[in-house]
Amino acid sequence: MERVGTYTFVMSTHTKDQSTLDPTAALNDRFCAAIRAVAPDLPEDQVLAHIGPSRQPKLGDFQSNCAMPIAKRVGMKPRDFASKIVEAIDVSGIAHPLSEESIAGPGFINVSLLPEALSTALDAMDSDQLGIAPPTERKTIVVDVCGVNLAKQMHVGHLRSTVIGDAIARVQERLGHAVTRQSHVGDWGLPIAMVVEQLSVMEDEGTDVSKVSLAELNAIYKKVQAKCKAESRALALIKKVGGHVKAEIELNERIADANAAMERAKARLVALQSGDERSVRLWQIIYDTTMTACLHTCDRLHANITDEHSAGESTYRDELAPLVQDLIDRGIAVEDDGALVVQCEGIKEPTIIRKRDGGFLYATTDLAAIKRRVGKLGGDEIVYCVDSRQGLHFKQVFAAAHKAGYDKTADGKDAVLVHAMFGTILGEDNKPLKSRSGENLNLSELLDEAVTRASASVAEKNPDMPASERDPISEAVAMAAVKYADLSTERIKDYVFSFDRMLAFEGDTGPYLLYAIARIKNLLRKATDKGVDTDAAKTAEFSLDEPTERAMALTILRYPSMLKATGENHEPHRLCGYLFELASLIAKFYEQCPVLKDGVDDSTRDGRMRLSMIALRVLEDGCDTLGIPTVDRM
Ligand code: ARG
Repeated sequence: MERVGTYTFVMSTHTKDQSTLDPTAALNDRFCAAIRAVAPDLPEDQVLAHIGPSRQPKLGDFQSNCAMPIAKRVGMKPRDFASKIVEAIDVSGIAHPLSEESIAGPGFINVSLLPEALSTALDAMDSDQLGIAPPTERKTIVVDVCGVNLAKQMHVGHLRSTVIGDAIARVQERLGHAVTRQSHVGDWGLPIAMVVEQLSVMEDEGTDVSKVSLAELNAIYKKVQAKCKAESRALALIKKVGGHVKAEIELNERIADANAAMERAKARLVALQSGDERSVRLWQIIYDTTMTACLHTCDRLHANITDEHSAGESTYRDELAPLVQDLIDRGIAVEDDGALVVQCEGIKEPTIIRKRDGGFLYATTDLAAIKRRVGKLGGDEIVYCVDSRQGLHFKQVFAAAHKAGYDKTADGKDAVLVHAMFGTILGEDNKPLKSRSGENLNLSELLDEAVTRASASVAEKNPDMPASERDPISEAVAMAAVKYADLSTERIKDYVFSFDRMLAFEGDTGPYLLYAIARIKNLLRKATDKGVDTDAAKTAEFSLDEPTERAMALTILRYPSMLKATGENHEPHRLCGYLFELASLIAKFYEQCPVLKDGVDDSTRDGRMRLSMIALRVLEDGCDTLGIPTVDRM
């Protein structure tokens, strides 16, 4: 969609179930119907109404620019085509009738809404549902979120899978679908076995490993990873260019050590896989320690991701061998140089599902996951909110699952498999965001810093606010800032992480949204203090005479179709852009349309209060749908 002024051009043709409450959408439908009548041979994808705000507000609220591009295609002059349209169109109930006078310049068609069209539509939207009708077809949607790895602290990469994943799920819930979140925790395989092995050594040495912290586990993880990495390439190089005999001997020893460590890890994996009691007990410690910290961070981020959503790789362990056997039996998996692969049309790289040494892979587990998500969880659609760098993996897994029929739903349809991928968070240097020492940035430390910074801003704005009141506000402002920054850029794109930008109270930021909400709440509190009956205002006539009031009304009415558009391609940034637009309009509204000032008559005051109240509900509903916390004052 192209944004112009305060409205959004509706470029696409609306489907029939589009909320007809929204005059923009309704006008679009009427124009499309007229275009079809005037140019019946025009292909459907060219039936575009091009409705936007009027360039000359005295001529109308909207204009349709459909005549110029279409007239050319059907061999007419734009003005003549426009004449045919105004003759054919039926705008009853929405706008004043159109005539030759509605046409301006080369063929712009101006439309003035009926005064009651706005208030009737707003009235109808003024309910808990805010005009969002239940879906015509209720789907079960499984959303793959978070997906942390054991023994590792959540790093900044998991911010996106958690925040965007949860928002994607919330949007579908709000649209009325049944949603199941699944966190595909990396809790199985050789790397984890390495850590289990190390814990067993520590326990043998007398350490109480049940008290190990996640930071310690993280350190152990790195240490054992390094230990198991044989430096064979360095050795080959020394041999080739010639080096000190001593260096060669030392390196040889290190490699022998690494090989031995690797052998022990492999043996530990076998023990773990066969349910060895001690291995499982140690694994459980790692699992609990990691997940307690992870779920705490999810909670802090206001992401609705809890224990019940964890479906780690380990939960598929008994399903992998039968699944692979099934693929062999049906000739879908074939041997390739000792490994077992599934070859899929259009994808060069075969999907490896069993290594030469018999081990299963990431792809094998993901195949089992699709089977469970479609078969057991009843998913009509599975959405993976995972880094774009895993693009090939999902392409392969989706194709292999389809080839095997694991994506068949109970009613025989193919489940929709979507990789809702996201880009990388970059540092100010435009490289992937890392800590100063070059490591992955620890997420909870990052959030702590956001809170410290937010707290300073809140204190600056409210010097008299006691800390007990300031702290929860700072926490919410910080989370809103971090989340909004992550959600408001198109998810496919990389973005530069900047505390200064995301925490600013002005501009396209989370705090700006929160401020708009707090501002309306403040107005309502002031009204009550002044003895105004705010309950009566809830049913007052809307005040819609001023252009800003009308712009507010039109923007509010777009909410249901905006939410739907956000859900269509799982693009939370659309809803963010809309909420920012509404928040900006609210600022303008309060500049131009006083509410509680002396001299404003009671009915205008109440009408403006009602407009404020419904704007507030849309903002709050929108924030809630994105998982952005809000505050009463800031
Ligand atoms: N644990 C994986 C990682 O950190 C993410 C899991 C994504 N989900 C999936 N079904 N593969 O890269």
